[in-house]
Amino acid sequence: MNQLFLFPPAASLEAKGVDQLYFVMLGLSFAILALVFGLIVVFAWRYRAGSGARRSKLPGFYAHEMEIGWTLATLLVFLGIYGWSVEARQVHWAPPHGALNVRVVAKQWMWKFEHPSGAREIDALHLPLGVPVRLDMTSQDVIHSFYVPAFREKQDVLPDRIVTLWFTPSRLGQYAIRCAEYCGTNHSLMGGEVYVVTPAEYARWADRNADRSLPAAGARSFAALGCAGCHEARADLAPRLADLYGSKVALEGNRSVLADDAYLERSILDPRADIVKGYLPIMPSYRGVATPEEVSALVAYLKTMKSGRTP
Ligand code: CUA
Repeated sequence: MNQLFLFPPAASLEAKGVDQLYFVMLGLSFAILALVFGLIVVFAWRYRAGSGARRSKLPGFYAHEMEIGWTLATLLVFLGIYGWSVEARQVHWAPPHGALNVRVVAKQWMWKFEHPSGAREIDALHLPLGVPVRLDMTSQDVIHSFYVPAFREKQDVLPDRIVTLWFTPSRLGQYAIRCAEYCGTNHSLMGGEVYVVTPAEYARWADRNADRSLPAAGARSFAALGCAGCHEARADLAPRLADLYGSKVALEGNRSVLADDAYLERSILDPRADIVKGYLPIMPSYRGVATPEEVSALVAYLKTMKSGRTP
């Protein structure tokens, strides 16, 4: 881990494009540097005191054309680099379909990862080779920056917001994770390791560490059934569910109800029985859609939902 290298290995499909861009910009910078310093040396020699160089007035007739020329050339080079970097960073592409979705929570001073199987790890990230990965990241406290040099990927991670990063690991091995945003005393120690393993190894690992608890199963059903589409994304369509369990819910028709297990289950299977005040009766029943096991897992999950920041 502490070996000295001049350039990190390229371990993602995206790395090559970033490297090409980097070397072309480096080359361009050296070319301009050579031109400017070359001319300084040439002119210093040619126009030194006592040399016989011509010192008449500057020829005025091409001044305009030259000015337009170098302004346009510089602009075009910059636009070209801009377009290329956008392409290399893929910011205009949607995350690949069927990507492995890993949730990332940053906090002072660690990286926490949660896999689709519910497997969790801290300061270590197992990923399958050749499978697109999508990281949904948030921070529990201050701004951090998720940085894997070998993947050429870096993304600021902010509190109260989910930011997304995606890439495809293309080389087996172990690579460093760093935090690239000063985040307090132990910022320099905030890091970990990515382990890129074969898809079969990843499947075994994810299964061995799967979270088989009822709330975890409920969280997966919550995502799979699309509940978050209204209950988290559209506060105007559906009530928020955090802190719901055990609270008193105001209903249409001047009624109210205690949000206990029975209420949660009824709201899933027979949502029109109790309409929360201020909302329309638009939620479909999940009777026959969610299995009884899924319903009890969903209820278990809803009971754990608390407002505030993600665990
Ligand atoms: Cu987290 Cu620096």
